[in-house]
Amino acid sequence: MNATQLRGLGRAPCTGCLRRRLVICNVAEAIRPAVVSKNGNARAGVPEGTPIVTPQDLPSRPRRNRRSETFRSAIRESIVSPANFILPIFVHEEGSNNIPIASMPGIYRLAFGKNVIDYVAEARSYGVNQVVVFPKTPDHLKTPTAEEAFNPNGLSQRTIRLLKDSFPDLEVYTDVALDPYNSDGHDGIVSDAGVILNDETIEYLCRQAVSQAEAGADVVSPSDMMDGRVGAIRRALDREGFTNVSIMSYTAKYASAYYGPFRDALASAPKPGQAHRRIPPNKKTYQMDPANYREAVREAKADEAEGADIMMVKPGMPYLDVVRLLRETSPLPVAVYHVSGEYAMLKAAAERGWLNEKDAVLEAMTSFRRAGADLILTYYGIEASKWLAGEK
Ligand code: PBG
Repeated sequence: MNATQLRGLGRAPCTGCLRRRLVICNVAEAIRPAVVSKNGNARAGVPEGTPIVTPQDLPSRPRRNRRSETFRSAIRESIVSPANFILPIFVHEEGSNNIPIASMPGIYRLAFGKNVIDYVAEARSYGVNQVVVFPKTPDHLKTPTAEEAFNPNGLSQRTIRLLKDSFPDLEVYTDVALDPYNSDGHDGIVSDAGVILNDETIEYLCRQAVSQAEAGADVVSPSDMMDGRVGAIRRALDREGFTNVSIMSYTAKYASAYYGPFRDALASAPKPGQAHRRIPPNKKTYQMDPANYREAVREAKADEAEGADIMMVKPGMPYLDVVRLLRETSPLPVAVYHVSGEYAMLKAAAERGWLNEKDAVLEAMTSFRRAGADLILTYYGIEASKWLAGEK
C-alpha cells in the first residue's frame, strides 16, 4: 500500500515513511501513540492497549500452516519412531546386580543373563528392536594387544549369543575396536613410542569382527578409526562366509570431549604411560579433529568404496552439519550417535529442573532426523519411546 492508497482510506502515512520515501509501513504508523486507544474503543478479545491497525497486505503468511496440532502433525517433515533407535547396552559379569553409572543417571552396566534379557525385552515392548553391545572387561583380561576382543567365549560374544537365542529377530550391532580390552585404553595397539599401530591393529579388528559374526551379530560397527579397516573387515567376513553381516562404519568419529561418561562406564579411558612406554593421553591421532568438515567427505568416500552399509557420525548434536553433509554426499543410510556426554548434559539439566527433559530429548531426536539421520544410537532409546507412545 502506498501513500496515495492510504490517504484514500482516510489514513495518513507516518512521517518517517514519507520522509524516507518508503512504501508505507502502517504498522509503524499504528504504533504512534495517537492511534492507540487508551480507553473507549478497545476491541473485544484483545488486551486494552492493543494497537488498531489495517491488516498487512501479505501474500504469504507461514503461520497459517502452524495453526492447529492436527495440521502441524499432517505436514510435519521429520518423524521420529522407536524403529529409528539403536539402544546401547553395557554388560558386565562382576556379580548379578546392575551397576549404576554415576555420570549417566538411569543407565546401568547390566548383569550378564536375565537382567540383559529383561532390559531388551522392555525396549522391544516399546518398539526398539536394535541394540549395540558394549562389554565391561575385567582388568585382568586386558592386555596391550587386546586378544580378549576375539575370544569366542568373551563377554561380548556370549552376550550376542544370548540376545540372538532369546530374540531371533532382534538386530544386534557390535562395537569393533580394541579399547574395552586394551590395557593401554586405546582403540588400537600402542607401540612403545606411543604410536597407535594401524595395519597391525586391523588384523585383530578383523578377528574381532569375525568372532562377533560367528556369535550371531547382524551388524558389526568399527569405531576405531584405523585407515582401511572397513575394507579389511568386509573381506574377512566374506572369506568366512558372513556375506550377510552388515558393516555400520563410524565414518566421521571426532576426538570429542563428550565420550567421558562412556569411558567411565567401561573404565576404558587411555591409561597413564610409563618411562619406557609412552601412552598418548587422547585419541587425536586417529579420531577426527572437531574443526574439520571436508575431511568427513574423505572418510565417507573411503568407507563407501570399502563396502560400508551404513555410515555414522559421532557425536550427534554438535555435529548436525556433518550428518547433513553425509546425507547429501552418499546414498547410504546415515546413523548418528547421541553420545554419553550429550545424555549426561540433558540428565543433569533435567535433574535440576532447568529443562523439560521429555521435550528437550524429543527435540534432539527430531533434529537428528531433520539433519538427515535414519538411525539414532541413544541411551534415551527406551525413555524416548515411552514418551513417543504417550507415556508420562
Ligand atoms: C570405543 C567407543 C567409544 C564410544 C563408542 N565406542 C569411546 C571412545 O571412542 O573413546 C563412545 C560412546 C559414547 O560416548 O556414548 N571405540
